[in-house]
Amino acid sequence: MKTRVQPLLGAALLILSAWITGCNKPADTASSTDPGKFQGVIKIGEFASLTGKEAAFGISSHNGTQLAIDELNAAGGVLGKELKLLTEDDQSKAGEPATVVRKLITRENVVAILGEVASSRSLEAAPICQQNKIPMISPSSTNPRVTEIGDYIFRVCFIDPFQGTVMANFAKNSLKAKSVAILTDVKADYSMGLAKFFKERFVADGGKVLAEQSYSGGDKDFKAQLTSIKASNPDGLFIPGYYTDVGLILSQAKELGIQFPMFGGDGWESTKLIEISGAAAEGMFFSTHYSPELESAVAKTFVQKYQARYKEEPDAMAALGYDSAFILVEAIRKAGSTEGSKIRDVLASTKDFMGVTGKTTIDAQRNVSKPAVILTIKQGKFKYVETIAP
Ligand code: PHE
Repeated sequence: MKTRVQPLLGAALLILSAWITGCNKPADTASSTDPGKFQGVIKIGEFASLTGKEAAFGISSHNGTQLAIDELNAAGGVLGKELKLLTEDDQSKAGEPATVVRKLITRENVVAILGEVASSRSLEAAPICQQNKIPMISPSSTNPRVTEIGDYIFRVCFIDPFQGTVMANFAKNSLKAKSVAILTDVKADYSMGLAKFFKERFVADGGKVLAEQSYSGGDKDFKAQLTSIKASNPDGLFIPGYYTDVGLILSQAKELGIQFPMFGGDGWESTKLIEISGAAAEGMFFSTHYSPELESAVAKTFVQKYQARYKEEPDAMAALGYDSAFILVEAIRKAGSTEGSKIRDVLASTKDFMGVTGKTTIDAQRNVSKPAVILTIKQGKFKYVETIAP
């Protein structure tokens, strides 16, 4: 036993000392994976809601992004260098994205920024990236204004005029709703935009909006709004909110005896919604970007790798985070440079990138047109219903 253990111990010490030496190198040349394999590092910034109200979004998105970066490093990095993801927590709070993104750009000299999930927080950071000519890719912010900030701002998901249309058609055709009520979060650009696009299409197709009520993200009591919505007696209620609020809304709607179906957009997608609302979420619907039940080969391998590492199924944020990192690194590779303007130009010409969320082609407005999937909640789990092409 003894003779076998000692060489092993010796090897472990060697690795440890190599690792410590690696850590002592200046940040720009340190390599944690395999010393000698890389010539320097390329720093990529990420801002995400790792804590706070929408922590589930930020954590999923970050997990997907980190998985991609680690896979890319294992495959040799890019331009001979190791990729280093520097992640800042914006705590799901307004004001924080600007602070942390400024820090990533000016103090850390990142070459590009990945983030955020929530549109309001992407809208806050985008002008800073634009001013500094640092390309920013939002994996999953769907409000159209995000990419209108400037030519350095990209996204890899569909936008809300499409998502609103998808849900208006779904209400009319699948739920057979002739009338609806809408409950909007006035604090979220995402919610305000999605409500507007949904309404425009639903009304244009002859539907009626019987009640429009609002709340502020973080509210706890929605009974007053729900009571007046109930009294208007619609065929359905559209709630373009985020999961923490929507979870409470669904529970309180059940307590008030509301029977009509309730449905929403990608902001619903967290298992936390089911934890918060329990049985009240059964049979409800929402649109999103991706389902782990999708069949493509890339999607399947991704699900396996993600599950092996994080012990849970990936959701849309995880999948889009993963794709956003691959798209960025592919652009750096093609640009042969880490200069912002060069990365920007290559990103703008991204065409038919095959990712886990499908094919990504970035258009002239730096947006992407992709199918939406509709999920329902059945026995406490998200279930795939259908895919709707743009
Ligand atoms: N699309 C939402 C927004 O723009 C965020 C989101 C993305 C939520 C993906 C869930 C899944 O704010």
